[in-house]
Amino acid sequence: MMGKKSILAALIGCTMAASAGVQATTLKLSHNQDTSTPVHQAMKLLAKRAKALSDGELKIRIYPNAQLGSQRESLELVQNGALDMAKSNAAELEAFAKAYSAFNMPYLFTDRDHYYRALESDLGREILNSSADNGFIGVTYYDAGARSFYSSKPITSPDDLKGMKVRVQPSPTAVSMVKNLGGNPTPLAFGELYTALQQGVVDAAENNIPSMTLNRHSEVVKYFSLDEHTMVPDVLVISTASWNKLSDMEREALTQAAAESMQEMKTIWAEAEVAERQSAEKTGVEFVEVDKAPFQQAVEPMYTELKEKDADLYQLVEGLRKL
Ligand code: GCU
Repeated sequence: MMGKKSILAALIGCTMAASAGVQATTLKLSHNQDTSTPVHQAMKLLAKRAKALSDGELKIRIYPNAQLGSQRESLELVQNGALDMAKSNAAELEAFAKAYSAFNMPYLFTDRDHYYRALESDLGREILNSSADNGFIGVTYYDAGARSFYSSKPITSPDDLKGMKVRVQPSPTAVSMVKNLGGNPTPLAFGELYTALQQGVVDAAENNIPSMTLNRHSEVVKYFSLDEHTMVPDVLVISTASWNKLSDMEREALTQAAAESMQEMKTIWAEAEVAERQSAEKTGVEFVEVDKAPFQQAVEPMYTELKEKDADLYQLVEGLRKL
């Protein structure tokens, strides 16, 4: 982890340092995952393609492992223009732009194809654009698979969650989901989760398989229960201030590079899920098939509640659900 001084040094000259003589633009991109993760691979490709498509003019420098702060801190820096880009996800973004909460509704998508139809739809694009006046713009989504519960015991029905402290992302929808399922939601930053699981501060977590193994949570849990309650995409965002400073050519290069890396991520992700499941099994994690019906029933009231509380958001959710 970078000290406060080096974080400051990294951010000084940000945003968009133009090197002397050359009309180069360097965008700084922060994220909270390790360099071994699929999303880091996808963003390395993004940087490579952005550079090639702009004839070397547009560079993206990636800071992984929350070196520049947690996901939330990075988003705040992006929002006020102190950092150019961040990779976040739709759960964390819920606190910054309401439309993203649609993705956090459990059992919204029937399968991976449905998920992709949504990410590539006009509605998906509208969500990415919805925060432009709020300091940042969504550039693209990246596949982050399906999220399931993992713990030292199998969770095969909502009853198993009774009395369990379950780490969730800082997302009101995720909090509500775990409450509806009967568990005790505990919002925590991702970087704190390994220790929290190890020391019993929380009894369970929920995520995709690569996030569990590549952050070594698989060393401290025994069961991954495949209830697949949500499919929450990762989201690459850029500060509105940085976007406005890009030339037309740079914007085109970034947009094109993002689209290409999103497509590549489909394969990168699918391969990583298979490989990381094998690696989890090797460390002794057991994968448990789960009947999803009781989980679905338990969270159904969230849809009725949303319909009563927020008609616009409900309409967006239904729009995605029917794609
Ligand atoms: C996934 C996601 C991250 C997020 C993490 C979490 O790994 O890709 O963006 O921080 O879940 O549960 O916090």
